[in-house]
Amino acid sequence: MLARLYGKSNIYRFSIEIFKQIRAFDFLKVIHHDDGDVLAQVLNITRDGDRLIGDCKVIGFKSNKVLKNIRTPFENDALVTIADDEFIKDTIGLTTDDNDYIGLLENHNDLKINLDLKKVITKHIAILAKSGAGKSYTVGVILEEVLKKNIPIVILDPHNEYASIKYPNTNKSDMKRLEKLGLSPLGFLNHVKEFSPDIKINPQCEPISLDLNKLNPQELVNALPQKLSPAQQNLMFNILSSLNNRVNIDELVFHISNEESNSKWSLITLLESLKKLNIYSHTPTPLSEIVRHKRMSIISLKGVEPYVQETFVSGLLRDLFEARKKEEIPPFLLVLEEAHNFCPERSFGEMKSSKIIRTIAGEGRKFGVGLCVISQRPAKVDKNVISQCSTQILLKITNPNDLKSVISSSEGVDNDSEEEIQKLNIGTCLLTGVIDIPLKVNIRPRISKHGGETVDITMSYEVDSSENSNQSSYYKEHMSNDSDDFDDKEETFDIPKQQNRIENNKYYDNVVSAKKEEVTEKEIKSNPEKEHTYKGKYNEFVQFVAPEVELEDAKVLLDTDNVRIGLVSAVMVSLTTPDSKQVNILFDKTNCQIIKNIFPFEGYPVSNELLLLSASESKLLKSILTLEKERFNPAELLLKTDVMYNEILRICDNLFSKKILFKEGKDYVLGNTKFTKNIAESNFYGKQKFEELSYDIKEDEKISNNDVKKIFEMFFKVENLKDIFIVKYIGN
Ligand SMILES: Nc1ncnc2c1ncn2[C@@H]1O[C@H](COP(=O)(O)OP(=O)(O)OP(=O)(O)O)[C@@H](O)[C@H]1O
Ligand SMILES: [Mg+2]
Repeated sequence: MLARLYGKSNIYRFSIEIFKQIRAFDFLKVIHHDDGDVLAQVLNITRDGDRLIGDCKVIGFKSNKVLKNIRTPFENDALVTIADDEFIKDTIGLTTDDNDYIGLLENHNDLKINLDLKKVITKHIAILAKSGAGKSYTVGVILEEVLKKNIPIVILDPHNEYASIKYPNTNKSDMKRLEKLGLSPLGFLNHVKEFSPDIKINPQCEPISLDLNKLNPQELVNALPQKLSPAQQNLMFNILSSLNNRVNIDELVFHISNEESNSKWSLITLLESLKKLNIYSHTPTPLSEIVRHKRMSIISLKGVEPYVQETFVSGLLRDLFEARKKEEIPPFLLVLEEAHNFCPERSFGEMKSSKIIRTIAGEGRKFGVGLCVISQRPAKVDKNVISQCSTQILLKITNPNDLKSVISSSEGVDNDSEEEIQKLNIGTCLLTGVIDIPLKVNIRPRISKHGGETVDITMSYEVDSSENSNQSSYYKEHMSNDSDDFDDKEETFDIPKQQNRIENNKYYDNVVSAKKEEVTEKEIKSNPEKEHTYKGKYNEFVQFVAPEVELEDAKVLLDTDNVRIGLVSAVMVSLTTPDSKQVNILFDKTNCQIIKNIFPFEGYPVSNELLLLSASESKLLKSILTLEKERFNPAELLLKTDVMYNEILRICDNLFSKKILFKEGKDYVLGNTKFTKNIAESNFYGKQKFEELSYDIKEDEKISNNDVKKIFEMFFKVENLKDIFIVKYIGN
C-alpha cells in the first residue's frame, strides 16, 4: 500500500498518510465508491511526527467525456495508487502532439504538454520568474513553435538576446537532451529580421521609424520629452489647429517661433529634441515589413535611452494595433520582455506605453493580437495586463512581493503552491490555463540557440584566453540578481557563456543541423555558478557607464578583496565647442568634476562658484580664456576687452575671492576653469548601457542638471543633457 486516507476530507480536498514513493505534485488515482477512478493531485507534504501527510486536491473523473467532481467524500479505505500516464491524459484532456510541444509533465516522460498555439493569439501568456530562472529560454521554446506555424511575431527585445534564434542550438547538454526527445537542432535564419530605433548602438539592425503622419496632436504632446505647461499646450494646439492638425515638426517650429510668447523657446527645444531622435519620419518603416507571415521582427532596444524606448514602443504598438484593427496586417504575437518597464503597476508610475499595452491586453484578442508578457518583477507589472493573461508560466520566484502577486493573479495557484514556486528548478515551471489545474512542466531544450545567458560580473576572468577578446566588458549582457535573493545559492544549470555564443559565420541556411558532440551530465553541473555574480545591496535598472576593468582585476589593483560597487550620479553633456567640435562630457554631479577616467576614478574639478558669477565677471572670465594661457597679467586684458583697467583689477580680485583665479605675484593663474581649454580631450567614448545593476552605494548629486548646464553654457553651446550613472569601484 502506498498511502491511505487520513483525517477529515471533503469533496475538494483530502489528506493521505504516505507510506512510500509519493511526492508533491504527483497525480493519484483514488477509487471512489460511486464515481469510480478519480484523479487527484498531491499539493503539499508535511511531516507530523513519524507520519508523512499529503494534502491532496480532487481533480475529478471523466463521465461522457466531461470532467466532473465527486459528490461525496472518499471512503476511508479508498484505494490510492499513482495515476498512470494514460489515465492522467484522458482525465484532464491533454491534447498531446508529438511534434509541437513545449515540455514534459514533471515525472512523466511520455506526457508532452503543448500550448494550443492558435489560442496563443487569442489567449495572452505571462511568463513570470526571478532573474535567471529561464524566462527568455522558455519564450525561445514557445517562439520556435510559433515560428514553425508561420505566425508573425514582433518582439521588443531590450537586451538584444533573441536574435540567436537564427542559429541552431549547439549547446552540448541541450543537444544531448534533444536527441533523447527525438528532436534536432534547428535555426530560423530566414524568418528573422532585426530592427532598431538606434542603429549606432545596434549596427546589425535595420533602422526603424514611425509614421509622422499618423501622429495626432495629443500623441505629439505625449511623445515630447517633458510635460508641457498649460500655456505651451495652448500655444501648440492653437497652431496645430490652424495647420489642420497636420503634424510637421519643422512647420510647427517655424510657426511657434513667430508667436509672441515667453514659453515658445522651451517648446521649440522640446520639439527639436523629439525630431533629433528620428523616431518619427516622413518615410517610415512599412508596418507590413514588421508584421508578415513567416517573419519574426526583433525590435532591439539595447542601449536605447529609456525615454526613447518608451516613446518609440508606445508609438509602434499604437500603429500596429490600429493597422491590425483595419486588417492592414495579419494577426500576430507581440512579445514584451521586461514588461515592468513598459507597463508598470500604477503605483510605480505610468509610462507612455502603459495605455496602449493595457488596451492590447484588454482588446487584442478581439483583433488577433496575442500578447506574451515577460517579467522578473511580477509585482511591478500592471495587474490589469497580467490578469488578462489566461495562460501563465511561472518559473522560480523567491521575492515575497512577487510571490504574493502571482498567487493573487494566477488561476489555480494558491498559497499551497507558494513553497513549490520558490523551489522550482531552473527550466521547470508551473503552467496554468491549459487545463483547470496548474501543471508542473519541464520546459524542453531549445532547438535554436539561446542568447539570453546569465552573465556573471566576475565570470570573464574564468574564461580561457582564446575567448578574452569577446569579454572586454563584464556587463556584456544583463546581470542576474534579485534584491531579495541574497542567500540564494541554489544550483542552477547555467551554461557558460562561451558555449552559448553565436558563431556568426557558420550558418547560412534557414534550417541547419548542428554538429552533435557527446557531453556528460557532470560537465553541466561543474559550470560557474551564481556565487560569482556580484550581489550588491540594491538592484536597479539604470543607464550607466562602467569601467572596462573587471571587478577581479580591480581588486588586485586596489589591493583589497573588499571592493564595493558605487553608483555616482552623473550627466552626459553634449556640447559644441566654439571651433564647432561635438563633444560628449561625462560630468560627475557628486564631486562636481569632468570625468577623465572611470577606473581609476579621476576627473578635472569644476568650481561651482562659476554659478555665482555676475554678468561682468563671467564676461571678463571669457576674455581671460581667450588669452589661451594659464598665467596672465591683468594689463594683458586691456586688449581683449573694453573694460577699464581699474574695473579689470576689481573683477580679477572678485574672481580670486571666488577661487576662479589664483594669485602669483602681480599675475593671476586660472584655477578650476582649465577644463574649458582642451575640452575635446575630455570627450567621453565609453559605452552606455541600460541594464539591471547590482550595487552597494548610490552617491547623491550635489549639483543640479540646470546648474551644470549653466556652467557649460558660459563657454559652449550645450546641445543636450542626459542623466547617467557611473559605476565606481570603491576599495576600503
Ligand atoms: N529549460 C531549460 N533548459 C536548459 N537550460 C535552461 C533552461 N531554462 C534556463 N536555462 C539556463 O538558464 C539560463 C538563464 O535562463 P534565461 O536567460 O532564460 O533567464 P531569464 O529568466 O530570462 O533571466 P533574466 O531575467 O536575467 O533575463 C540560460 O542561459 C540557460 O543556460
Ligand atoms: Mg531574460
